[in-house]
Amino acid sequence: MDIFERIRQNPGPLGQFADYGEGYFVFPKLDGPIGPRMKFQGKDVIFWSANDYLGLCNHPEVKKADADAAAEYGMFYPMGARAMSGETDQHQQLEKELAEFVQKESAYLLNFGYQGMVSIIDALVGKNDVIVYDVDSHACIVDGVRLHIGKRFTYRHNDLESVEKNLQRATKVASETGGGILLITEGVFGMRGQQGKLKEIAALKSKFNFRMLVDDAHGFGTLGTTGAGAGEEQGVQDQIDVYFSTFAKSMAGFGAFVAGDKEIIRYLKYNMRSQIFAKSLTMPMVIGGLKRLELLRTRPEIRAKLWENVVKLQTGLKNIGYNIGDTNTCVTPVFIQGSPVEATQLSKDLREEYGIFTSVVSYPVIPKGMILLRLIPTASHTDADINETLAAFAAIYEKLENGYYKKLEQKLLEEQNLTFKPI
Ligand SMILES: Cc1ncc(COP(=O)(O)O)c(C=O)c1O
Repeated sequence: MDIFERIRQNPGPLGQFADYGEGYFVFPKLDGPIGPRMKFQGKDVIFWSANDYLGLCNHPEVKKADADAAAEYGMFYPMGARAMSGETDQHQQLEKELAEFVQKESAYLLNFGYQGMVSIIDALVGKNDVIVYDVDSHACIVDGVRLHIGKRFTYRHNDLESVEKNLQRATKVASETGGGILLITEGVFGMRGQQGKLKEIAALKSKFNFRMLVDDAHGFGTLGTTGAGAGEEQGVQDQIDVYFSTFAKSMAGFGAFVAGDKEIIRYLKYNMRSQIFAKSLTMPMVIGGLKRLELLRTRPEIRAKLWENVVKLQTGLKNIGYNIGDTNTCVTPVFIQGSPVEATQLSKDLREEYGIFTSVVSYPVIPKGMILLRLIPTASHTDADINETLAAFAAIYEKLENGYYKKLEQKLLEEQNLTFKPI
C-alpha cells in the first residue's frame, strides 16, 4: 500500500480527533503572560495546564536574568556544539551548581530533555547489556530503549513483583552475554502523579547487580527537603546511579541535565550523540538557569506555597467525590470513566461555563482505556483560583454522574455523523 494512502486511512490514535478537536482540545491557543489566569478564545480562564510548578516562568528576577543574558549574548550564542565551539564558563558553572543541588559528583547540560534522554540510554548500554524499564515510561525513555540492540524487558507499572521477575530474567541474559543491567524508571510519573518506587527498587540492588537511571522531570524542584527530587524524598538519592531532569518543569525553561559519578558523566559527555552532533544549550537559558537554580535553592517558601496549593486542590477534589488515583506528588489527575469525546465535552463545559482550563489526557500519553483531566497546581495559584476551581468541579459532578456528558457525546456524534476508533 502507498504510504500516504495508509496515513490517510489511519491518522493515528490522536490524529483521528484532529477535525473534531484541533484548536480547542488539542493545540489550543492561550493568550496573555503565562500564569494562573490566562485568556482562551477571548475568555478569562483559570489555567491548570502548565508544568510551571514554582511559577518561575513569569518571575520578574528570572525574566530579567533571561533578558540581560539575551541582550549581552544574543538569543543563540554559542553557535555550535559544546565539543566543537560551544563551551563557556557559564555552562560549566551551571553544571557545577546542578551537581551540588542533586547531590552528585558531576553534571552535564543537555540541549533538550527528550533527545538527551534518548542519547543517555543509547550511550550507556552496549549490545550485551540488558534494559529493564517501567512499561509506563515517558516516550523519551521508550525511544531511547528502541535504539538498544540488546535485550530489554518491561515490568508492570510500579509493580515490584514484576520488577523482581524481570531483573531475574535480565540477570540470566546478562550472565550469558557477559553484559550488565540498566534499570530505568521515573521519579514521578507525570500523568498519574505516582512516584516511582525508587526506594524499593534500590533495595533490590542487594539481590541483583544493576544500575539505576531515573528521569526525575517532575520531581526535580518539587520533592525532597531541598527540592533535589524523588530520590531525596525517598531517602535514596545516593542510590540513583544516573539522574536526569529536564528544565521544562520547575526550572521553567528548556534544556536538561544528567548527573552522576564524575567518570560516568565524562563518558556521557563524549558519547551522547544528540549532544555531540547538535547545538549546545544557549546562553540566555544557561545564565537564566543559574538564576532559576538560585531561586530553587534560596527560596524554599516557593516550594512550600506550591505544596500548600497541591494539598488544598487535591483534598478539595477528593472531598467532592472525584477519583484522583494514588498521586503522591503535585500532579493532579481527575480520572473520568467514559470515552475521550465524553471527557472533552466535560472539559468544554468547564471552559465555557466556569472558565476553568484543564487538559484532557488519553492514549497514547497514558495506557489504553484510561482518560483523565490533568491539573498542575503551581506556586502562583491563589486561594481564589483554587476555590473557584473546586466550586466548578462540584457543579459539574452531578452532571457527570447522571450521564449529561455521555448524552452530549451521543448527540454530537449523531448530528455530525462522526465515528472514532476506540482508544
Ligand atoms: C518525564 C519527562 N521526561 C522528559 C521530558 C522531555 O523533556 P524536554 O521537554 O526538555 O525535551 C519530559 C517533558 O518535558 C517529561 O515529562
